[in-house]
Amino acid sequence: MNEPLKILGIPGSLRLASYNRAALAAAQGLGMESVTLEIFDLEGLPLFNQDKENQPAPKVTEFKRKIREADAILFSTPEYNYSIPGVLKNAIDCASRPYGDSAWRGKPVAVMGASIGSFGTARAQYHLRQCFIFLDMLPINHPEVMIGDAGHAFDQEGNLVHATSLALIRELMENLVRWTRQLKK
Ligand code: FNR
Repeated sequence: MNEPLKILGIPGSLRLASYNRAALAAAQGLGMESVTLEIFDLEGLPLFNQDKENQPAPKVTEFKRKIREADAILFSTPEYNYSIPGVLKNAIDCASRPYGDSAWRGKPVAVMGASIGSFGTARAQYHLRQCFIFLDMLPINHPEVMIGDAGHAFDQEGNLVHATSLALIRELMENLVRWTRQLKK
């Protein structure tokens, strides 16, 4: 029996019917043995203000605690204007400060994304990966899960019905779990 692993799933969208939250729900639905995936909603995180970084809002403190308690992180990002949404970048900034107290450092991380465009968040995902360098996170590279034409990949209830995308999410989760266990040795 493997040691239980906790993964924190972070959707980069506040939208109630978000495809990216639905993609994380699909990952949850895989029911992988010894793995729990919690989805953290970014609603309510304040805009980062460096003047106040030493008096973090309760939501920021909770967010950093959840990141620290997690063995690995799984982002699911939309693409806004060929990049990551401000909501997600703000969240990354909030949890990275104050300097020397970043919650991200050394965390294994995987990325996926869903958009209504045909490139399926490719450009946003590469921008997100750039942040991992300064944050000193430990990303896995494969598979790239880029769910395009999301309006057809999910049904009306938000279930991921695109079989190839679901298979890729399973592979991504398996690789993230393997990578996380490898780093713990
Ligand atoms: C978008 N959308 C979008 N789609 C895309 O493929 N490439 C892009 O550059 C953009 N840009 C963009 C900017 C802004 C401000 C919005 C609001 C939307 C469309 C986007 O893919 C769509 O809204 C998704 O549904 C967003 O993901 P969630 O909220 O469903 O998770």
